[in-house]
Amino acid sequence: MKECIELITQRRSITFFDPNREVHDDLTKEILEISATAPSGYNIQPWEVIVVKSKDKKKLLRDICYGQQKVEDASANIVLVANTHAGFEHVDRILQSWEELGYISSDAKESLKSQILTGWQDPQKAFRKAVRDTALFGMNIMITARAFGLETHPMEGYDEARLKKFLNIEEHKVVPMIIAIGYKDHSRELLPRAYRFSFEEFGKII
Ligand SMILES: Cc1cc2nc3c(=O)[nH]c(=O)nc-3n(C[C@H](O)[C@H](O)[C@H](O)COP(=O)(O)O)c2cc1C
Repeated sequence: MKECIELITQRRSITFFDPNREVHDDLTKEILEISATAPSGYNIQPWEVIVVKSKDKKKLLRDICYGQQKVEDASANIVLVANTHAGFEHVDRILQSWEELGYISSDAKESLKSQILTGWQDPQKAFRKAVRDTALFGMNIMITARAFGLETHPMEGYDEARLKKFLNIEEHKVVPMIIAIGYKDHSRELLPRAYRFSFEEFGKII
């Protein structure tokens, strides 16, 4: 329990990565699969990732990220992609799994399908759903990485149009954030964690 809380509270956005330490692909995949146990509306899982790890591609990505050095120093950069068509593309597989696991009967599938798809028909709602679920997946990545001794840095500072062109991301997909991942450079110190609002400032219990 204490460990779990420390994984959350001691997470920082790491500016200094050790440029000489690589994260093995198997570990990256393991972290991503663990993170993909994140919840999503109707279990649609609208996220995709592109892991940018080659030196050449990281250099190009750094330029797209307005020169952020951590992009190049990190072992890799996980580009999170939220698919606003995921409802339509994933619904059959999800319903199939629910039927196999006994959540629903075969007869219930069609009406449930149209209920699920109603939420994905309105582009604004689809955008919100895709981005919301993908962000939950992203938070899991940041915490899970720490459990394996790695650190991360989420980023929204990039030119999305250039990024989409660079990675051939289709028009109906959006990039809510990029997460740099790697080992911290222990010779560099981060500044202390900045101010956080207290419960009294951001919440109420009614
Ligand atoms: C979605 C998102 C986008 C962010 N984008 C950037 C970024 O482009 N560049 C940057 O230096 N920090 C970025 N940050 C990091 C925040 O500045 C950082 O999380 C915040 O200052 C709190 O610091 P901490 O994460 O170390 O607690 C981003 C954070 C989030 C969650």
